[in-house]
Amino acid sequence: MEKILALAADHGGYELKEAIKKHLDSLGLSYIDLGTDSEKSVNYPEYAAKLCHEIQSGKCYRGILCCGTGIGMSMAANKHKGIRAACASDAFSVRYTRLHNDANVFCLGGRVVGVGLALELVDIFIGTEFEGGRHTARLDMIKNIEDNQ
Ligand code: RB5
Repeated sequence: MEKILALAADHGGYELKEAIKKHLDSLGLSYIDLGTDSEKSVNYPEYAAKLCHEIQSGKCYRGILCCGTGIGMSMAANKHKGIRAACASDAFSVRYTRLHNDANVFCLGGRVVGVGLALELVDIFIGTEFEGGRHTARLDMIKNIEDNQ
């Protein structure tokens, strides 16, 4: 089955999302762009929700959310069942949130990281697989918290 990434941003992350799209195009990777489509002010929780729904439905296997800091997007995304969103600006954190947390959403701050670094982090997010093993039981614990809300 084709692996499709979901992308979404608010106005603070719009420019970075566009740069990520170009990068994914150059790599020949498939994605869907859920907006926003300009720098006009919008509300990031709405875009986080759109993206999370695509992952929950199984249409997309992972997603990337961009806002000004990446933080608001990650807060909103983590309210959705089955979503493990990580906001990070360094390679170590991105690598380990895939290896250990099986993060399925990566949140970036368009006002925090430059495009060059952001694209390297995207490559790590896409290219690193979950280690499983002892980390699976920990993710089950997170799922239990979710199920018992
Ligand atoms: C929008 O101004 C800004 O608040 C938003 O992009 C994001 O940084 C929120 O966390």
